[in-house]
Amino acid sequence: MRHILLLLVCLLYAGLTPSVADNGPEPIRSGEIWPDNNGVHINAHGGGILYHKGRYYWYGENKCDTTSSAMVGIMCYSSDNLTDWKNEGVALPVTDDEGSDIVRGCVMERPKVIYNGRNRTFVMWFHLELKGKGYSAARAACAVSKSPTGPFRYVGSLRPNAGRLPFDMTDAQKAVLDTLRAENYAEWWTPQWYDAIEKGLFVKRDLPGGQMSRDMQLFVDDDGKAYHIYSSEDNLTLHIAELSDDYLSHTGRYVRLAPAGHNEAPAIFKKDGVYWLITSGCTGWAPNKARMFSAKSIWGPWTSHPSPCRGPKEEITFGGQGTYVLKIHGREDAFIFMADIWRPEKPSDARYIWLPIQFRDGVPFIEWMDSWTLDFFDRR
Ligand code: GAL
Repeated sequence: MRHILLLLVCLLYAGLTPSVADNGPEPIRSGEIWPDNNGVHINAHGGGILYHKGRYYWYGENKCDTTSSAMVGIMCYSSDNLTDWKNEGVALPVTDDEGSDIVRGCVMERPKVIYNGRNRTFVMWFHLELKGKGYSAARAACAVSKSPTGPFRYVGSLRPNAGRLPFDMTDAQKAVLDTLRAENYAEWWTPQWYDAIEKGLFVKRDLPGGQMSRDMQLFVDDDGKAYHIYSSEDNLTLHIAELSDDYLSHTGRYVRLAPAGHNEAPAIFKKDGVYWLITSGCTGWAPNKARMFSAKSIWGPWTSHPSPCRGPKEEITFGGQGTYVLKIHGREDAFIFMADIWRPEKPSDARYIWLPIQFRDGVPFIEWMDSWTLDFFDRR
């Protein structure tokens, strides 16, 4: 009897004790294992986040233990507090159809999803490489869904803006481009070659079939216009391209950013009318120093800034490579820089860096924190 009473007291006490969640937000620990609702490390790498009707949806690459190729597809997780994530399953699965772009064993990287209110459609774009072709295809692929968690329907892939030159190219620049002959620049990395790249040698090379598109980002501006930002020209130059009103195609309007500057991993946000773009250099899975650019118009001109990273390993982006800047819904100027710590020897073990973006004199900086909670943004 005494035991039963003791048990009842314990149960009552447990019922009255506040749960961990009631003690305030869970900390974010960059670089650590991040368990989902099943206790399994979140598998959504090179990801991005969409806020829709009170919930955040995190889309990313499913990585397995032995290869970085896509064996499963694009994952979706959801959360209402940005720390507890529910595995919503595979939003866009690979297929077993050898005739499909997205056959198991292809490369599906850096998926981003935006919502088109006009036709109530979730639109995903990602970087696609064809199975068995290394990184030579350099294509952008699109999929759509009526629900944020999918399943997404694969639409197709392309190299953007075939037949189009950047809309801001002057007649004088076009005349110079006309004179550039590929056969004169057979040797890469020479000063003359760099000069020709800057002037658009590879834009011209890829004019008929469309521009190469690898690491990528999507951005929806305040007016609902969407932009696709991608590493083009053999990763030498970023392109910023306008998407059509349904977000399913490119309008042909685009500009080049930092020609011959070797930028990858573009992550963009807008604050007080200024666009900030954080990028990486090009060293594959190995981390390098972040770069930053700003502009008053998405079309530029873009100004270069020093890396925003501060703290241990700031010279290699804390060991990571950017993937997205998340604007927190309903909070003034609250942005999170998201990056991946790649683990090419065991891709599924790749880790996440999430750090708050801070501002000094209006210029963003990102300070390493072992652990922080979202109420950081209330204490500023
Ligand atoms: C990185 C890129 C990743 C992946 C990798 C392959 O530079 O950011 O998304 O493509 O190269 O080596």
